[in-house]
Amino acid sequence: MFVFHNRHQLRQYVGKQKSPVALVPTMGNLHAGHEALMKRASELAAAVVVSIFVNPTQFGPTEDFAAYPRTAAEDLERCAAQGVHAVFLPDVAELYPDGLPGAVRITLSGLENDLCGAFRQGHFAGVALVVMKLLGLVTPQVAVFGKKDYQQLLVVRTLVRELCLPTVIEPVSTVREADGLALSSRNRYLSASERRLAPELYATLQEVAHALSAGRRDDIAALEHSASERLAQQGFLPDYVAIRRAADLQPLPSPEREMVVLAAARLGKTRLIDNLEINLS
Ligand code: PAF
Repeated sequence: MFVFHNRHQLRQYVGKQKSPVALVPTMGNLHAGHEALMKRASELAAAVVVSIFVNPTQFGPTEDFAAYPRTAAEDLERCAAQGVHAVFLPDVAELYPDGLPGAVRITLSGLENDLCGAFRQGHFAGVALVVMKLLGLVTPQVAVFGKKDYQQLLVVRTLVRELCLPTVIEPVSTVREADGLALSSRNRYLSASERRLAPELYATLQEVAHALSAGRRDDIAALEHSASERLAQQGFLPDYVAIRRAADLQPLPSPEREMVVLAAARLGKTRLIDNLEINLS
């Protein structure tokens, strides 16, 4: 497995590939959720490139950029065990040669300030910027993203569509612990008691999905409100629970066939997000 810290070496490597390349962008601290992305990437392309970069521009000033777990040695072992062909492990100056926040800003109408974007100002602009840099460097045929970050997935799809990029964006289902908690690098911030409570986030999403499937389809706002109340009663500080159209995350006046219920809530100092797709066919 090749490990590149330098973007020119990475470019040379991908330039030499004769067959399709898949990119798996990550911020490291890899877990079974990332392994599922690598596995899907290897099904779709002959060469799999994983990027590991904790991107400063997607963190707000009060967020956990400095504390974000950096575990490069273990991550490289995990990538090698998954049969990854190359890992790109740049430092900040390598991806932001003009310094921070960089000479370019991407503005995303609509999605940028909605849902998680309303609580994390500038987050999706930062994600969009680094994803554009990585797609520009690797020029992959396919890039694989987890559905756990559902809004991020739609942001990336919008970028690729609007900017006419040739990369296919491949979504992969969320990997969960046995008790339903979605795998996330931030789960390690949870105390033992918070960890016991954390699966209630997914249980709440499942309750909303059951209510919709069972015919409680008249009042979306009431369902969102009662789910948020349930989380608050259990000890979460909910940012939002929202039932949206799955294709574009638009708010819905009434239920549609393909929806997604998304939630973000804090448990102590940890912000958890999760979502569940609902198909009413
Ligand atoms: O999902 C992540 O890990 C990050 O947001 C990404 C896509 C690697 C961009 O930094």
